[in-house]
Amino acid sequence: MGWVNRRRDHGDLIFLDVRDRTGITQVVVDKSESGDSLSKAEAARPEFVVAAIGTVRRRGEGLSNPNMPTGDIEVVCRDLLLLNDAKTPPFSPAEDAIGNEELRLQYRYIDLRRPEMQANFLTRHKVAQAVRAQLSSEGFLEIETPFMTRSTPEGARDYLVPSRVHPGNFYALPQSPQIFKQILMVGGFDRYFQIARCFRDEDLRADRQPEFTQIDLEVTFPTQEIIFGVAERFLKAAFEAAGQQIHTPFLRMTYDGAITRYGIDKPDMRLPHMADLTTVLTPELRSTLRIEQELPVYGFVIPKVGELSGTARKALLGEIRAFFGESGLDILDLARLRTADQFRPLAEEIAAHLNAIQVAFSGDNLTADDLAVVITPKLGTPALWNFDRQWIPKRVGALRLELAKKYADKHGLFVKKGTPDDYKFLWVTDFPMYEFNEERKTWDAAHHPFTSPHEEDIQSGALYNDKGAVRALAYDVVLNGLELGSGSIRIHRKDVQAEIFRSLGMSDEEARERFGFFLEALEYGTPPHGGIALGLDRIVMLLAGATSLREVIAFPKTAKAVDLMVDAPSLPTDQQMRELHLRTTVRT
Ligand code: AMO
Repeated sequence: MGWVNRRRDHGDLIFLDVRDRTGITQVVVDKSESGDSLSKAEAARPEFVVAAIGTVRRRGEGLSNPNMPTGDIEVVCRDLLLLNDAKTPPFSPAEDAIGNEELRLQYRYIDLRRPEMQANFLTRHKVAQAVRAQLSSEGFLEIETPFMTRSTPEGARDYLVPSRVHPGNFYALPQSPQIFKQILMVGGFDRYFQIARCFRDEDLRADRQPEFTQIDLEVTFPTQEIIFGVAERFLKAAFEAAGQQIHTPFLRMTYDGAITRYGIDKPDMRLPHMADLTTVLTPELRSTLRIEQELPVYGFVIPKVGELSGTARKALLGEIRAFFGESGLDILDLARLRTADQFRPLAEEIAAHLNAIQVAFSGDNLTADDLAVVITPKLGTPALWNFDRQWIPKRVGALRLELAKKYADKHGLFVKKGTPDDYKFLWVTDFPMYEFNEERKTWDAAHHPFTSPHEEDIQSGALYNDKGAVRALAYDVVLNGLELGSGSIRIHRKDVQAEIFRSLGMSDEEARERFGFFLEALEYGTPPHGGIALGLDRIVMLLAGATSLREVIAFPKTAKAVDLMVDAPSLPTDQQMRELHLRTTVRT
């Protein structure tokens, strides 16, 4: 039984390719053997639902189809039943994905029939099952937390649900189970996990959906090591379930190390790190080359992009200058440096640094096939550096990624080879506790306000007089440049928690109003605890080789947060509005 994928009509002989979740089988409807089924086969059209009763036989000599797993056999149909007909679909599930994604989302049930989508959801299922089994075997209990709750501070806007019985009051859908999982630790549950749906009203991108799923966990009496081990084991199990091997333990790097070496807090370890050339450029060379004194100079290599022609190189220079705009950063043209006697030693020294990184990364020396770029701050560079010491490496890192996507991708650097090296996992540790919000000119929690700062950064008073320098016991797990998960060791003492709220500019009154229940819970014997949450959708996306979460979420939303199939969000009825005590200011 299944759907007609294709029909080939040879008059007295009709072939139906019948498709179900497991694949496609050829059904032969033959005048001599199938009797009046032939007329039914004639009527069958793509996407009709059929049942074929018959005998499986080996295909005749030379008739096998090596491109199909079932290509050696066929079903000789004795009786064909047309279980349901189908209108001509707006696109065929027998073809690759069409370019019009809106049509795919509107007719999601047809899109989901495509073998590629079926495979993605099989992977998703296997990953979720493997995670459950692994965590369960390590003593974690799966516990559900509420959807109708209060605001959780994860940095996005909340989705609100109006209450009918409490006029003017709203529930918030959880941005994560964060507070509840911490309270479960206070409640003595030791090791909790949940494959939890989260809701965030934020700007959407290919790797962000307003509704998404976390593998969320929390443990009491934790160390970072315990949490890293738990996550590495369930990731290994999940990847194995999807047929992939990975290396454990994962590499590690501090946040500061990641920024200075890669210019980003989620480095793609499939590329070599940047070279810090700050000291290579002496004060004399800087003044002759009109480069700012003291400010950092970075270089990087994108391996094996192929030798660029003169025109391609010129276009690249233009692209880099456009990328930096008026920021004061500029490319140092190494080829031109080499042509001047005076600068040749400098060019050689820079090349030697880049070469060392390239050799350490791939074992190969730098060649003309590798793209080498050096970025310097031009004389008269604006004072951005004073505000954020990591501004320059971050901008250079961003350029490096943009060029890598364009050039390295084209040359297959990111193509999977089916080995554990395809997956470069990394722990990034010691994230900053606070981040400066330029719009509001305030210091916000970089992770969330329940994250514990390093003990010595509390002792030193940095909480108040040097917020930018306070490190948190917070960590991310990163895979091939994508943040898969985040977590932290939490604050378990009420005095410290109240202190952190205060340091975030929250008055004691406001803290009590928003988190009073939580502060109170901390007073009743809260054990030290910590945890992590990983994006299930993102894990499956990488395993499926997809570039958008929409390929691995059955009923996703568009970039404008719309479900095109059911047409949500939609207008409530007047009666609903009355019952909910709502009036809208929008005219419809
Ligand atoms: P965080 O907000 O970093 O941490 O989220 C953890 C992981 O969830 C995934 N994720 C998303 N996936 C798809 N669409 C989104 N809009 C989206 N937002 C986040 C990412 C991310 O790494 N409560 C903390 C975790 C903790 O401290 O234990 C939290 O939610 O993969």
